[in-house]
Amino acid sequence: MIALIGMPGSGKSTVGRYLARRLGFTFFDTDQEIERRLGCSIRDYFEREGEQQFRALEETVIDELTAANRFAVISTGGGAVLRPVNRHHLHERTRVIYLHALPEDIYRRLRHDTTRPLLQTANPLERLRSLYAERDPLYRETAHFVIETGRPSVATLVNMVVMQL
Ligand code: S3P
Repeated sequence: MIALIGMPGSGKSTVGRYLARRLGFTFFDTDQEIERRLGCSIRDYFEREGEQQFRALEETVIDELTAANRFAVISTGGGAVLRPVNRHHLHERTRVIYLHALPEDIYRRLRHDTTRPLLQTANPLERLRSLYAERDPLYRETAHFVIETGRPSVATLVNMVVMQL
């Protein structure tokens, strides 16, 4: 099983979907799985119940998806590494790839995106910088290897991942 981790907008879902197709594996996206269970968007749930309720559900979904030894690629939400138990499950049960992207590059990609609750602030770039400062060490600690997402196309990124497996 392969898990993709990294900041929002680092390409986890896009790369994950291609990678799964290339390997003939099933693709799971923890955010999609959470939305399926909630029956509403993560953004609405965040507003109604707050971040910690969301994190609890995220923990359950990560535990369940990584427990079965499937031929699967799992793309995770950007905050999946915040809880130590998630870091442990991901690292021990899957081969973890960190898609590394700098806050400035992510900002350029996500400027017009309104679906991500953590970026609905007056200064999203500052927010991305502080999220990055907090999380980059956690992504590195959890990952088995790191892929630079700066310039390459999705196809190249998928090739880079396959070569590391
Ligand atoms: C979050 C990232 C989102 C989603 C939720 C929280 C985060 O996933 O899980 O909005 O804490 O960074 P993406 O990384 O797919 O945007």
